[in-house]
Amino acid sequence: MSKASNAKRRQLVVGNWKMNGNLRENASLLAEVVAGWQGEHKSDVVICPPYPYLMHTHSLLAGSAIMLGAQTVNQYDKGAYTGEVSASMLADLDCKFVIIGHNERRRMQGETDEQVAHQFVAVQQAGLTPILCVGESLQDREQGCHLETIGRQLNAVFAHTGKDVFKNAVLAYEPVWAVGTGKTATPEQAEEVHRFMRAQLPDLADEIRILYGGSVKAHNAQQLFALPDIDGALLGGASLDADEFLAICSAAD
Ligand code: PGA
Repeated sequence: MSKASNAKRRQLVVGNWKMNGNLRENASLLAEVVAGWQGEHKSDVVICPPYPYLMHTHSLLAGSAIMLGAQTVNQYDKGAYTGEVSASMLADLDCKFVIIGHNERRRMQGETDEQVAHQFVAVQQAGLTPILCVGESLQDREQGCHLETIGRQLNAVFAHTGKDVFKNAVLAYEPVWAVGTGKTATPEQAEEVHRFMRAQLPDLADEIRILYGGSVKAHNAQQLFALPDIDGALLGGASLDADEFLAICSAAD
């Protein structure tokens, strides 16, 4: 991919608050973020709070260009699934994006490639955009089979949906060993994987947005965003600090 085609894609910064925040902290964080992100921008910004705060976040983002997203979803539309939330419910709350396949859910909730594929379909059927996360473990990386793992995770969804539907999807590369650890993939490591992921969708190569996630901070964002195949970031820790978050959004802009 050339720099020229990269320039055609709008950068996207997604803040995943994970299981953090409360009404008071969220209100003060969002007041600062909204005040710092006024007017027109060349990039898109999304915030994904925990479920109980979706409505509150929605009202605090009213009138701003920042969009609402969710951190996960159930694959079914409704029924006896205690504790679960469907994509149509998220659409009802004006969510625009849903993170699926995050490595914390794959590892801690045991979500399988197959479930992730079903979630992908459910999100699109509800008219929302899935942000499909893939990434290798430290062991995969050390054994040099990181591309194989990522290929398998992507193929599990392709086998279920085909590739055309990725027109309305975002991909995210999150090396498991870099999430929340303070270790970032080097620009070369990240670019290698992003290029590989883009090559899996040759018909959409110019348009599919591929985010990097894993200890992105204000000090390393610029360098990552300058790479030809990186179209923004999926942030955990950095999305909980208004100054840090806004600095990263500005680096993408
Ligand atoms: P981190 O999390 O920025 O805290 O490393 C990234 C993620 O989980 O998306």
